[in-house]
Amino acid sequence: VSALELEAYLEEKRQRIEEELDQLLPPASGYPPRIFQAIRYSVFSGGKRLRPILVLMASEAVGGKEEQALPAACAVEFVHTYSLIHDDLPCMDDDDLRRGRPTCHRAFDEATAVLAGDALLTHAFWVLAHELPRRGVPPLTALAVIEELGRAAGVEGLIVGQAADLAAQKGKISEEELLFIHLRKTAQLFRASVCIGGIISGASPDELGALASYGEHLGLAFQIVDDILDLGADSAKAGAGTEGSKATYAAFYGLEEARRKADEATEKAVASLGSLGSAAGRLRDLAFRLAGRRS
Ligand code: IPE
Ligand code: IPE
Ligand code: MG
Ligand code: MG
Repeated sequence: VSALELEAYLEEKRQRIEEELDQLLPPASGYPPRIFQAIRYSVFSGGKRLRPILVLMASEAVGGKEEQALPAACAVEFVHTYSLIHDDLPCMDDDDLRRGRPTCHRAFDEATAVLAGDALLTHAFWVLAHELPRRGVPPLTALAVIEELGRAAGVEGLIVGQAADLAAQKGKISEEELLFIHLRKTAQLFRASVCIGGIISGASPDELGALASYGEHLGLAFQIVDDILDLGADSAKAGAGTEGSKATYAAFYGLEEARRKADEATEKAVASLGSLGSAAGRLRDLAFRLAGRRS
């Protein structure tokens, strides 16, 4: 499909996801107001909605129903948003801005940001348990979705990735550690997104294997490119030559080699889709688009 067609598709899905996120969250008028405002402030602050889009695309690739995939897509975005709120806290990356706006703890306060993150993480699993059976997803399938998200978000996935990322900031790291961090802090949630789309839609074990491999390589490529873009943004802000002490491919290998590794991961992601045939065309197009993104 053409680049324009992909953009139109992404925009349409984004709108659908925005509506569903709104419906699945408690209203801003809850009591006490601050926590409800903080939750909505962070969920609706201009995120690209990539992970929920991946859920929908994967579901589509194996012939699933969008109505059933949507609540799972939102659950993944809730986990993602929680991870960013906590990632930005003073005790973690200590960032003041996220998506060009004050981070949650800056706009509100630290305790509220901790609770907003906790709320979103918990809400994600409640949404899956509550919504999937109501939309005709068989209970065992819903359970498999919950298992997949729990694994990716948990101590074998995102959490251990974040922990290793923090540990890495204290000293030099190896190539293996760098890959370990990326595969867990970012790639596991990408992998879970496409796998969840597949599970809900009754993908075969072979199809799930293809989706898992695609998601992992895509997540790796995404984080490498994200860090390269951050580098540009930082040196534009602080003058040339800013080199963070963060565990990034760009800092470890240099810009050119990091770009090459991102392209290699993108190629592997796309190659993984082979057995899914033409139904996976959009997943392939999205991978190439993310590899070439500039923001
Ligand atoms: C940011 O992810 C965190 C990383 C894993 C690099 P996104 O760039 O997908 O975040 P938003 O939601 O679109 O801002
Ligand atoms: C974010 O990683 C990954 C998670 C929140 C799990 P980073 O700390 O590298 O991402 P940014 O730069 O804050 O978006
Ligand atoms: Mg971080
Ligand atoms: Mg960060």
